[in-house]
Amino acid sequence: MIKNLFSLIVLASLGALSASAQGTKPASALDQKVDSLIAKMTLEEKVGQMTEVTSDVVSTTTNGVHQIDADKIKEAILKYHVGSILNVSGHAYDRKHWYEVISAIQAEAAQDRLKIPVIYGIDAIHGVTYTVGSTLFPQEIGMAATFNRLLAYKAGTITAYETRASCIPWNYSPVLDLGKMPLWPRIYETFGEDPYLVKTMGASIIHGYQGSDVGDKYHVAACMKHYLGYGDPLDGKDRTPAWIPDRYMREYFLPPFIEAVKEGAKTLMVNSGEINGVPLHASHYMLTDVLRGELHFEGVVVSDWRDIEYLHDRHHIAATQKDAVMIAVNAGVDMSMVPYEYSFYNYLIELVNEGKVPMARINQAVHRILKVKYELGLFDHPVGNPDDYPKFGSEEFRKVSLQAATESITLLKNNNNVLPLKKTMKVLVTGPTANTMRALDGGWSYTWQGEQSDSFAANKNTILKAIQIEIGKDNVTYQPGATYDSLQNVNDAVKAAKSADAIVLCLGELSYTENVGNIDDLNLPWAQTELALELAATGKPIILVLAEGRPRIVTEAESHSSATLMAYLSGNEGGDAIADILFGNVNPSGKLPVTYPRYANALVNYYRKNLENGNSDDKHGYNPLYEFGTGLSYTTFSYSNLHLSQPDLKDGETITVTVDVKNSGARDGKESVLMYTQEEYASIAPDFKRLRAYDKVDLKAGETKTVTFKITTKDIAFVNDLSKTVTEPGEFKVMIGDQSQSFNYISTVAPDRSGKL
Ligand code: BGC
Repeated sequence: MIKNLFSLIVLASLGALSASAQGTKPASALDQKVDSLIAKMTLEEKVGQMTEVTSDVVSTTTNGVHQIDADKIKEAILKYHVGSILNVSGHAYDRKHWYEVISAIQAEAAQDRLKIPVIYGIDAIHGVTYTVGSTLFPQEIGMAATFNRLLAYKAGTITAYETRASCIPWNYSPVLDLGKMPLWPRIYETFGEDPYLVKTMGASIIHGYQGSDVGDKYHVAACMKHYLGYGDPLDGKDRTPAWIPDRYMREYFLPPFIEAVKEGAKTLMVNSGEINGVPLHASHYMLTDVLRGELHFEGVVVSDWRDIEYLHDRHHIAATQKDAVMIAVNAGVDMSMVPYEYSFYNYLIELVNEGKVPMARINQAVHRILKVKYELGLFDHPVGNPDDYPKFGSEEFRKVSLQAATESITLLKNNNNVLPLKKTMKVLVTGPTANTMRALDGGWSYTWQGEQSDSFAANKNTILKAIQIEIGKDNVTYQPGATYDSLQNVNDAVKAAKSADAIVLCLGELSYTENVGNIDDLNLPWAQTELALELAATGKPIILVLAEGRPRIVTEAESHSSATLMAYLSGNEGGDAIADILFGNVNPSGKLPVTYPRYANALVNYYRKNLENGNSDDKHGYNPLYEFGTGLSYTTFSYSNLHLSQPDLKDGETITVTVDVKNSGARDGKESVLMYTQEEYASIAPDFKRLRAYDKVDLKAGETKTVTFKITTKDIAFVNDLSKTVTEPGEFKVMIGDQSQSFNYISTVAPDRSGKL
């Protein structure tokens, strides 16, 4: 049976591994310290460290007041020696309450025999989600649209500061999944569809989270997630199967994780789905052979929510819950996000006593967990000092969030320069996303599903409020016109449109995440399109604002807009950022980090194969509504003088690419310069084009800057039919803006399909 196979593999691969034998490197002083603590631990204490429960297990909530329950926390710590607790009970707490919660937990931990602090984890995925008054940034999809790594780094730094200010040292972020499948309800939690963009943005935000010393009071441990392939479910539903051949896994999905490991990410969370029928939580190949053997990741692997249980309940690969525990731990899961009870703990003790999980495997997992606790400084300071964080929720931080929102918002269409609107205009604001913070913040905002953002962020501006502030209430009429999926007093909206100079039509989605956000149809609900059609009949210019977590099909509604803004989920400052752009206070500079499809059944990423382009007489080729990388400005940019430093590239050499970018319009602006390469012929079908580098430049009206990129053989490599990364000799085209130039890669060694250069 499969389970026996797993334990055999683990037993064989661990052999007589001692606690100090972590990888091939000699044990550091810290490793030795950890091992000497492990030497004092009982099996029960070790397995407790591998057990993570959710906050509800140790809390009571009476009349809406949440408290750590004295008996429950005693049971968790003194009986089960629980190593980790996560999450929030209900909704966001203020900082004082977080301090009380964490203090109560750590005080109990100090009563346990070895006084090992608990590591508390939280989803601070766009700011510290569950702390009242925190700085909430655009969701990752918006951060990606900025094409500004520095902003990702700054958002990471601020989030880490505010997470520690909430006494929490561990952040379940960033999501490094590829946002390849537009139906998937977590597209907005990703940095988009492109492996290079995900990889570079991911590394920048991790650097912000962890800083140069993760143990100082301003930084937290990052958790790269969800390893691997979560973002590409075949049917688009959350936590459902993906089919990913090994070659594609290595070409597209793995690089962001490779980079994150290089960046030093301390922890990793596993994908709840399955690839090619193998649940990731049961995959020794992915969790040990690839992750440890190839990527050399040394940190903690935590399961996702209930996922060990689900090996039995949902995936049906473990005949019993106990087998599920054996399979997952032997495959390489170090900590189980159980999270509701203690069966994992009981089963794992039994399994070790029965010889089905080796003690060496337990020691290895516990070593990783204790090590990160030491690195985070938890043994010295289990609870932070709330007075150390005067900048929490500050104006300084708000401005960074506003800048991120402003740089994310993407102008997709601007017929006859209808935007920016004049501040003296009479405007109708309408649509289901116009007056709710839920459409700006999305899920993971104050609550899991983000449904309470209107009360928690009541002091922030919805799109409507921001427009009213911008041009005065007297110039603004508001009619919702529709809810998310039904018309609402549409005649009133049409009537109001007749006396307006322009219509700001806000369509899109309300907040959701995970399975709650599953949809069967990528089209926006018909009511929203109908509202657009009714308004279009008035002949007034429509400015379409899309506030949504994934690119819903809007083709018909959008065909009637004079201008279209993609706002994604732009966070607490999103309303102000949208108003700033609509009325020209700032110049838009976002670019699409995903392909915006035209039809619900034509979902092709931009790095398509040539076959997906269709034939020249074929109307059914690649034809999205807007391509990846689209984004207009109120000024114009022209590209010239694309120059390669040499016509040929040989092994060990670097080509320097330069291009002049001129702001040829009348306004200052920012431009993201994207460099793609294209390989005409290769031993396997090459991608049509791939993003290889990008940079964002500030250009005054009339100014020209030279942007420089580098290309080495590594940048143009691909994974071949033997799953090996190779660079093949041949012609490569470099494309930036409307410019292109070619070079030849000339191999100085005989081509070797096994990946050896
Ligand atoms: C999600 C993870 C999250 C975890 C803890 C899971 O349901 O898939 O992304 O980190 O819950 O909240």
